[in-house]
Amino acid sequence: MMIQEVLPVSRFSGTVTVPPDKSISHRAALFAALSEEESTIENYSDAADPQSTLACLRQLGVSATQAGDRVVIRGVGRDGFTIPEQPLDCGNSGTTMRLLGGIVAGAGVSCTLTGDESLSARTMKRIMDPLLEMGCRIRGREGRFAPLTVDRHKGVKEISFPLPIASAQLKSAVLLAGLFGEKPTEVVEKVQSRDHTERLLGLRCEPSPAGTVIRSSREDVIPAQNYRIPGDFSAASFWLAAGSILAGSELTLRNVGMNPTRTAALQILEEMGADFRVINQRSEGREPVADIEVRSAKLRAVKPDPSLVPNCIDELPILMVAMCFAGGSSVISGAEELRHKETDRLSAMEEILRRAGASVEAKPDGLVIHGRTDFRPLGAEYPTWHDHRMAMSAAILASASDKPSLIQGAECTAISYPAFWDHLTFLSQ
Ligand code: S3P
Repeated sequence: MMIQEVLPVSRFSGTVTVPPDKSISHRAALFAALSEEESTIENYSDAADPQSTLACLRQLGVSATQAGDRVVIRGVGRDGFTIPEQPLDCGNSGTTMRLLGGIVAGAGVSCTLTGDESLSARTMKRIMDPLLEMGCRIRGREGRFAPLTVDRHKGVKEISFPLPIASAQLKSAVLLAGLFGEKPTEVVEKVQSRDHTERLLGLRCEPSPAGTVIRSSREDVIPAQNYRIPGDFSAASFWLAAGSILAGSELTLRNVGMNPTRTAALQILEEMGADFRVINQRSEGREPVADIEVRSAKLRAVKPDPSLVPNCIDELPILMVAMCFAGGSSVISGAEELRHKETDRLSAMEEILRRAGASVEAKPDGLVIHGRTDFRPLGAEYPTWHDHRMAMSAAILASASDKPSLIQGAECTAISYPAFWDHLTFLSQ
């Protein structure tokens, strides 16, 4: 286990290009594999999670070659996967297991999906239930956990599935299995979660009184494409918070994905009084992109509307760090999904913030953080539970201390942001 020392930082300054978006990287690779021809993906992530997706695709007989950040994938079409000889190892990646799970279950490819200790403790029942209803054959340990075993079936039946939780992974798993059905499967989404799957596949979306209806079937053509992956907004959010909390900071973040279903953290930071500017807005393929400049500001407490939670689910931990430096009591509610991530992120953040000396109260679905504009974190040793976002949140918190701190298991940042520690050193003054 790598223990990383984080030294006090007086301010953050400089320019950084954030790593390629993890969610879009997974999808570009999976959808390229489902097409019938060759696709190229520029700026593919070298982080561990998207690399797990590539490795699994190779085991399914898909040629995926990477040179630098360019990946070339030769699609095998919906019915061209080969039965893998070994279990498909999804590593730490929930997106790999849930999205690829939808694909292999829909295709009826006999295989087993495994994951690391953290992934094997996360429920997969949420995808198994609708997949079983569609006639797919999928089993799990204790009926809900990986390893998942998938078998051949007699055809995918269409279903109409009201999403019981705002989860893009669940939505995507059902829509991807739906691609194998003769008649359209529909997912009805009340609270919008990230929409990369619909965008990249160009799926039919329609408003209805019950929510947005998204449909997929065998009739949806999946073309080979030249994808270019934007920078990861979730990675950028660490620097948005870092630049906001340390007086005198000035950061420029380049090539940040600005998909509106991902950027609720900007709304929350704005309400907190953060000083940032979104510039050079453009689009990369079907996704909006921009650069962001951020300067430090005096922050105030905020009570984000629970409806914003799905659109900032991965940014909530670092927002909690920012809330420690915001005058007054911030209240996060409606975020029980955080308990089902790589670790229970509500309990983990409560522990991290307490170790820093912050005043926090736990709630079943969130946290109350009593912040102070003159907050100085204590020097501390932080556990990270092998969760990349816990390690990066603790690191930004620790930088604002006037004493050194230690981050346990620091290597886990490579799951989404391999250059994180280098960028931290580079931007620290
Ligand atoms: C993801 C969706 C989110 C997010 C995860 C990536 C995706 O999970 O937390 O990091 O790529 O679809 P849920 O959709 O399950 O909330």
